[in-house]
Amino acid sequence: MVQRWFSSATQEENKTELLTSRDSAYSNAISPRTNVNSVQVTTVSGDIRRMLSKEALPFSAFLTDTFGRRHSYLRISVTEKCNFRCQYCMPEEGIKLSPRAELLSTEEILTLARLFVQEGVNKIRLTGGEPLIRPDVLDIIAKMREFEGLKTIAVTTNGLNLARLLPGLQKAGLDLLNISLDSLVPAKFEFIVRRKGFHKVMDGIRKAIEMGYNPVKVNCVVMRGLNEDEIQNFVALTKNMPLEVRFIEYMPFDGNRWNFKKMVSYQEMLDHIKQEWPNLERLPGAEADTVKLYKVPGFQGQIGFITSMSDNFCGSCNRLRITADGNLKVCLFGNSEVSLRDQLRSGATDEELLQVIAAAVGRKKKQHAGMFSISQMKNRPMILIGG
Ligand SMILES: C[S@@+](CC[C@H](N)C(=O)[O-])C[C@H]1O[C@@H](n2cnc3c(N)ncnc32)[C@H](O)[C@@H]1O
Ligand code: SF4
Repeated sequence: MVQRWFSSATQEENKTELLTSRDSAYSNAISPRTNVNSVQVTTVSGDIRRMLSKEALPFSAFLTDTFGRRHSYLRISVTEKCNFRCQYCMPEEGIKLSPRAELLSTEEILTLARLFVQEGVNKIRLTGGEPLIRPDVLDIIAKMREFEGLKTIAVTTNGLNLARLLPGLQKAGLDLLNISLDSLVPAKFEFIVRRKGFHKVMDGIRKAIEMGYNPVKVNCVVMRGLNEDEIQNFVALTKNMPLEVRFIEYMPFDGNRWNFKKMVSYQEMLDHIKQEWPNLERLPGAEADTVKLYKVPGFQGQIGFITSMSDNFCGSCNRLRITADGNLKVCLFGNSEVSLRDQLRSGATDEELLQVIAAAVGRKKKQHAGMFSISQMKNRPMILIGG
């Protein structure tokens, strides 16, 4: 049984536990008598002080970093493979896939996911590569649905097989969908993704609306000289459709030939949209939202901006990532990783795994290095991270 400093049970239980366990939790955290490692001890004591001073509701110390950020959102990449070859995501020559035995099995994914949920993760997103080409994806979602405390299961998909798979996904318990779409012009779409499939993706979007997903989130990576001229057409899509079109600033990853000139910043996109819709309204966002939301008054849907490059949201980052080969990444733009797969396969207990996770979370930096440093830095290509 893992020793947990705080439970993520009901709010009432949490309050009671906090009141009764404050002293012991605090002294555990600062005392070397506990069986946690030293990195964690330092981290936890600071966090507990912060938690006690600021919050009535506790959150797992294992998933709280030295800056008080609580990581309640886990993204799991379930495959390195993809049926598209998007220019911004992977090098033209492709990537070297890990041998199958090095990838997480269904059981390993579920074991890790369960552990994170027990510690307070309440949202899991499956990504990839293309998550919907993993044959057991429905099974994974259905089993996760049974985890107590997991509020939201999301998928980010390129949409190619979505129309066919969505009834099963919904039945399995899928709550949220992000579908990537970078152009409304079929030939351009196919140029960007280096494959055919525009109409199938559009069918997937329509199917998601028909099946009641609202909003259906559409991810659009904006690149100068490629699709920046379509920004207004994407906004216009939200007039009669319950979409949330998310314009994503183009980010540098290994092999994607990023350069500053190709990136269209949030401010530039906003100015462009306001030329057509000067009364565009800013919508309030939740605290940990990475998206800046807007709406054209009277439109059914809304738009958003993911501004990782020009205006980072590191301060409210609540995300952790597990790659398909089982590495924990605490920052999308950081290259430090720790293998949870190796821990699992060497028979680590839940407590030992949590110590490794807590140490990695404790090392998370305050913010990423900035776009120019990131573009020079060694990191995985996006397809091997998962977004
Ligand atoms: C890596 S993909 C994986 C999931 C799925 N295959 C898909 O395309 O939706 C996750 C998201 O990352 C986005 N993405 C990939 N490379 C990017 C880059 N260089 N800059 C910004 N977003 C990127 C994609 O557009 C996609 O929405
Ligand atoms: S963005 Fe998604 S669909 Fe495109 S290559 Fe990357 S993983 Fe595949």
